[in-house]
Amino acid sequence: MRKIIIAGNWKMHKTVQESLELTKSLAGIVSSSDSRDVVVCPPLTSLYAVGQSIKGTPLALGAQNMYFEESGAYTGEVAPAMIADCGAAYVIVGHSERREYFGETNAVVNNKINAAIKHSITPIFCVGESLAQREAEETMSFIAEQLTEGLADISSADVKSMVIAYEPIWAIGTGKTATSDQAEEVCGAIRNTIASLYDVETSEAVRIQYGGSVKGDNAAEILAKPNIDGALVGGASLTTDAFMAIVNAK
Ligand code: PGA
Repeated sequence: MRKIIIAGNWKMHKTVQESLELTKSLAGIVSSSDSRDVVVCPPLTSLYAVGQSIKGTPLALGAQNMYFEESGAYTGEVAPAMIADCGAAYVIVGHSERREYFGETNAVVNNKINAAIKHSITPIFCVGESLAQREAEETMSFIAEQLTEGLADISSADVKSMVIAYEPIWAIGTGKTATSDQAEEVCGAIRNTIASLYDVETSEAVRIQYGGSVKGDNAAEILAKPNIDGALVGGASLTTDAFMAIVNAK
C-alpha cells in the first residue's frame, strides 16, 4: 500500500513570520494518527525556522529547490547539505516554473535528483506537458522523455522511495484542473513507463502525485484514483483551511 502524500508548495510567498504562523496553525490540526504524509515547502528564507518549529509534529519539511553541487562559488545557490541541515526531508525538483523561468533541463533535473538522494533527501520529481503538447497528443511521449532523462542512472531502489508529481502545465495556477480521469490516465501511464524503465515492483512502489489547481472540492475525487498517491498543492496550500480541506479530503 502506498501512503498518500500531500505537499504544499508555497512558491514565492510568505515572510518568516507568516511562514511560522501558517506552520503553527497546521501543526495544531494535522494529526499524527493520520495515515497521510503532510509536507510543507516554504521559501528558502523560512526553511530553517519552519524546520525548527515542526520538530515533534507530524509535519515534514520540503525545500522548493536546491543546487546539485556540494559547495563552491555558485552565488545565490543553496547546496543539498544546507537544506538537509535545515531539516528538509524532501525537495521539489524539476517544477515546470523552474524549467520555464530558470532554464532547468532534464540533465540538470537528473543531477539534482542524484544529489538529493546522496543526501537522503526525497526528491519530488515534477513532470508534465504544456497545453500545446496535450493538443498535439504528445503528452506521454514528452513525459516519457522527462522520466527517462531525469532518472538516468538512478537505481530502482532509489526510484521506489521517491515521489513523482504529474503536473500538467496548463493546470498550474490557472484554476483549470485536469479531470480526475485525465490525471489518472497520465499517472497510470507514468507508472507503466517506470515499469518499462525498471520493473513492475518499482512502478508499484513509487508514489505519484497529481498537481495543478487541486482544491478542497476536487481533492477527494482525484485522491480516490488508483494510480494517484497524493497531491502537490500550490495556491490552496497558503491558508490553513484550504490546505486542510485537501489533507482531510476522503
Ligand atoms: P497550483 O500549483 O495548485 O497553484 O495550481 C501547483 C504547483 O505548481 O505545484
